[in-house]
Amino acid sequence: MGLLSQSWLILALCLSLAYSQTSITAGVTEVDLIFPRNESYSPSPLTPIVFAIQNPGLLSSLNPEISYYIEQQNVSTNESVSTSGSIKLSNTNYTTSDPYFLYWSTGKLDIEGTFVLAWELKMNNCSHSPQSDALSFGYFGSRRHQVYFSTKNGTSSPDFASATEADACDQSQAQAVQVPDLLAVPSSRTWGAPSCAATVGPSPTPSPCEVKIDSTAAASISAALTSDACANPVRTGLSCPTPSSESAASVTQSPVGGRWLLAMGMLVAYGLA
Ligand SMILES: *[C@@H]1O[C@H](CO)[C@@H](O)[C@H](O)[C@H]1NC(C)=O
Ligand SMILES: *[C@@H]1O[C@H](CO)[C@@H](O)[C@H](O)[C@H]1NC(C)=O
Ligand SMILES: *[C@@H]1O[C@H](CO)[C@@H](O)[C@H](O)[C@H]1NC(C)=O
Ligand SMILES: *[C@@H]1O[C@H](CO)[C@@H](O)[C@H](O)[C@H]1NC(C)=O
Ligand SMILES: *[C@@H]1O[C@H](CO)[C@@H](O)[C@H](O)[C@H]1NC(C)=O
Ligand SMILES: *[C@@H]1O[C@H](CO)[C@@H](O)[C@H](O)[C@H]1NC(C)=O
Repeated sequence: MGLLSQSWLILALCLSLAYSQTSITAGVTEVDLIFPRNESYSPSPLTPIVFAIQNPGLLSSLNPEISYYIEQQNVSTNESVSTSGSIKLSNTNYTTSDPYFLYWSTGKLDIEGTFVLAWELKMNNCSHSPQSDALSFGYFGSRRHQVYFSTKNGTSSPDFASATEADACDQSQAQAVQVPDLLAVPSSRTWGAPSCAATVGPSPTPSPCEVKIDSTAAASISAALTSDACANPVRTGLSCPTPSSESAASVTQSPVGGRWLLAMGMLVAYGLA
């Protein structure tokens, strides 16, 4: 590829990114749980949780929130290890790439055990009230998904790249949402997107196999997870390189800090294509 066409490619990429932030068209958006899967992994102070968001621009019309809960199974309640959280996506820059990878790690699963990860995509809607023209916002609700996995000494470490390969990708837990009708949101209203979803259509069949994580992107995710966890003083048991000012800064971006590393990894991959 010539130098000139490369710069056009980069320009086209930039334009499409800028475009996706200002204009939202009706269609289908999807959230895929890439990791963990119904498998066994080695216990780790850095157990990753990775979601892929397809067509994030459209998802923004639902002002989405992803909540999760991980709980150890088969032990008495008072001894069960658990961790939970909720990510309001409007607090992140998730519409800047498609797919967008949302990931973080937990240090709670550095033991052997069986766990359940329950997650929900919480979505909001809007409509014009009949009396006035004012926009009112409501809640669509959510669907609960859950996946069981276990941690066991001597098993393999997570492999993000193989999770999206042809023989495994269709096992990713996924939720696709069809948004047929959008309403414009005046900038005076706090919504986190220029449009809001008036309705959602019948749930389409998800296509998690559309998401690919190549080895470069997988390495970037791993590096970002490590630098984030190392920058977090609450994490223990990690053998970290001397913290740099860069990784110290990224702690404020938790739980999705480090996505720029990934974005850069993906741009490099594009440039080589
Ligand atoms: C739960 O514990 C019981 C009894 O200790 C055991 O038989 C069973 O295999 C365990 N199940 C899992 C999923 O670990
Ligand atoms: C949990 O509860 C059981 C009985 O209900 C008790 O035997 C055990 O000591 C408790 N464990 C902890 C860590 O408190
Ligand atoms: C999103 O991107 C903008 C501009 O690049 C930056 O100022 C902001 O801090 C980012 N937000 C988050 C939550 O990282
Ligand atoms: C949001 O969707 C729910 C469920 O479909 C509906 O009952 C509610 O009226 C909608 N709210 C708004 C503000 O559109
Ligand atoms: C897969 O899920 C089932 C329950 O749906 C669970 O019993 C099994 O232990 C899981 N497999 C692994 C390897 O965690
Ligand atoms: C698993 O490995 C950890 C750390 O090496 C060790 O403390 C633990 O006892 C091991 N568990 C079993 C069941 O072997």
